[in-house]
Amino acid sequence: ADEGMWLPMYVKRLNYVDMQKKGLQLTAEEIYDINNASLKDAVVQLGGFCTGEFVSGQGLLLTNHHCGYDAIQSHSTPEKNLLADGFFAANKSEEKPNPGLFVDILVRMEDVTGQVLEGITPQTPEQERAALVQQRQKQLADAAKENGQYVAYVRDFFAGNEYYMFVYQRFGDVRLVGAPPESVGKFGGDTDNWMWPRHTGDFSMFRVYASKDNKPTTSYVADNVPYVPKKHLPVSLQGVSEGDFAMVFGFPGRTQRFLPAAGLQLTLDQSNPARIKLRDTRLKLWKEDMDADPALRLKYASKYASIANYWKYFIGQNEGMKRLKTVDKKKAEEVQFAQWIAADPARQQLYGSALQDINQNYAALREFNLSNVYLNEAAFGTEIMTFAARMLPLYSLLKDPNADKAAIQKATADLKEPAAEFFKDYSAPTDKKVFAALMGLYYTDVPKAQQPEVFQTVAKQYGGSMKKYADYVFGNTFMTSPTKLNAFLAAPTLAKLEADPAFKTMNSVYTNYVQKISPQLQASQATMSRANRQYVAGLRAKNTDKVYSPDANSTLRLSYGTVRSYEGRDAVSYDYQTTGQGILEKEDASNPEFVVPAKELTLLKSKDFGPYANKNGQLPVAFITDNDITGGNSGSPVINGRGELIGLAFDGNWEAMTGDLAYDPDLKRCINVDIRYVLFCVDKLGGAKHLVDEMTVVNKGPNPG
Ligand code: ARG
Repeated sequence: ADEGMWLPMYVKRLNYVDMQKKGLQLTAEEIYDINNASLKDAVVQLGGFCTGEFVSGQGLLLTNHHCGYDAIQSHSTPEKNLLADGFFAANKSEEKPNPGLFVDILVRMEDVTGQVLEGITPQTPEQERAALVQQRQKQLADAAKENGQYVAYVRDFFAGNEYYMFVYQRFGDVRLVGAPPESVGKFGGDTDNWMWPRHTGDFSMFRVYASKDNKPTTSYVADNVPYVPKKHLPVSLQGVSEGDFAMVFGFPGRTQRFLPAAGLQLTLDQSNPARIKLRDTRLKLWKEDMDADPALRLKYASKYASIANYWKYFIGQNEGMKRLKTVDKKKAEEVQFAQWIAADPARQQLYGSALQDINQNYAALREFNLSNVYLNEAAFGTEIMTFAARMLPLYSLLKDPNADKAAIQKATADLKEPAAEFFKDYSAPTDKKVFAALMGLYYTDVPKAQQPEVFQTVAKQYGGSMKKYADYVFGNTFMTSPTKLNAFLAAPTLAKLEADPAFKTMNSVYTNYVQKISPQLQASQATMSRANRQYVAGLRAKNTDKVYSPDANSTLRLSYGTVRSYEGRDAVSYDYQTTGQGILEKEDASNPEFVVPAKELTLLKSKDFGPYANKNGQLPVAFITDNDITGGNSGSPVINGRGELIGLAFDGNWEAMTGDLAYDPDLKRCINVDIRYVLFCVDKLGGAKHLVDEMTVVNKGPNPG
């Protein structure tokens, strides 16, 4: 269908008629209503990075396996390996708490553009505008928090042309209920990732807990009871056909559909190649050690998966940009934009300098962009550097002669949990290799004039060998040993911290960035914000026939479309549904990515699918729709025209990896695990029928649409 991650509050006005035409049978109020229970109340943001949905009146939540991955890993040991073997709680007492994990449930959203921009005119100096906007965003959010009862924030839309406030309840007691074995939940591994056709059972289950009066608690409380959601989704066994209506509710993270050609070009020829190279290096080193040691393999499983996920994303994005001529297309749009402006002096006044300003600033940015990428992907791609950076608040207190004891004590206490987290999954010998390699690339690839001072030490005292320097850092830091770290935290002093080689290195990199790089980037920031804002406003004014949807920014959105096959490239067409047959075709006992659990093999071969087969007696596994989604939508409910759950969105397809930058309606698809495969994995494979029984399962005849 169409591009668009729509704000639910505008669906009635902007999209409803079109949705009905495509097969929606619900009223607009059943989708989004601030006063009565509506679909939006069944959808939550999970941990700030994924989406989940309620499927029972007892707070039972479905999301993706890759969203629950870190939690599942954290409950796993080589002896009791939930990641490898899967796990379903037999009853509520077996459900597992996850410190730090929370869900946000939307209470309301509100257009606050008028309040944020009050009195601001095109003549207001940009710095002043930015300060006012920031201050008002904070004031509005603070008031909406009602003394900590709610989580609230104001986000900017359309590059600062509009502002919306979001108010949530945050539930900090979220327990793991179940997950299939990794060989189901991540079947196909990195080979199949970002690709269709897919055969992955990418789901896991959690339960949200609340106090006895159904209120959120900030963390696990033993006495808490299952949360009763305002709304949960019925689950449909009916399945899908080509052309069926489908909508996806969720929290897409970030798109940059208004990125100008110069920005695309920089991504294509500088940022992405650097990211790919640095991640490639890191992943290979991790994998060497993971292959050699099962305990280490488990420790690094979640880190590896998340770095590998975007490593492949960047590769696909660049391939796609070349194949689809994304930069050229954008340039052509910009030529039209310039012509439209030139035709009218009023337009020149409003948007006239936007594109020139943008292009000039990208030229300047290009000089410093690698420093930016290497800071994130090389320096802070090394675990010890990231951990050392957590000492910065303590460091600034130790440096301050007027800092009081209590503040220092608090900063020290605040480090206990991150330290425990860090050491739980840390291998210093592995990280040392990564440090030597990534910092080595930083040293050779980033312009000398932009490098941190510490690299002079590497040059002078270590003959330019980052490997030798790594020996020194890892041989002398107190940050690779819990005992040594605790000794430091028991009596922290400035001298000890400043003498630590890991801290010293991190601090040099960080200071260099703050003092030398960031000011260069900031210098263009003001013109850039103004120019982007004008450019986006100009585009919307120019193309009045097109209703633009705002870029994703981790706020609740709805996208709608249909179940739809596609033509991937010349002579290649893809069907919309996969089945268990494809699992048997891909099965390969000698390749860890394509192992199928013995029990599943038996079920598949004997076609023992229970009530989860389709009308041809096959086991449906995954399907595609043309919903517009991105990262953060992972785990989102795919809902049919009657408001029933038919699947969980979990990926995008290879042919449209440029989707976050430019939308291609013919190629872009949303990959979903079929809810019937989810239930098959819970019930037939996992032996946890009680969890299916907890849901409202419906089977009402053919799908509308
Ligand atoms: N590409 C998916 C996303 O970003 C994640 C898939 C996880 N699976 C995997 N094999 N890494 O939403």
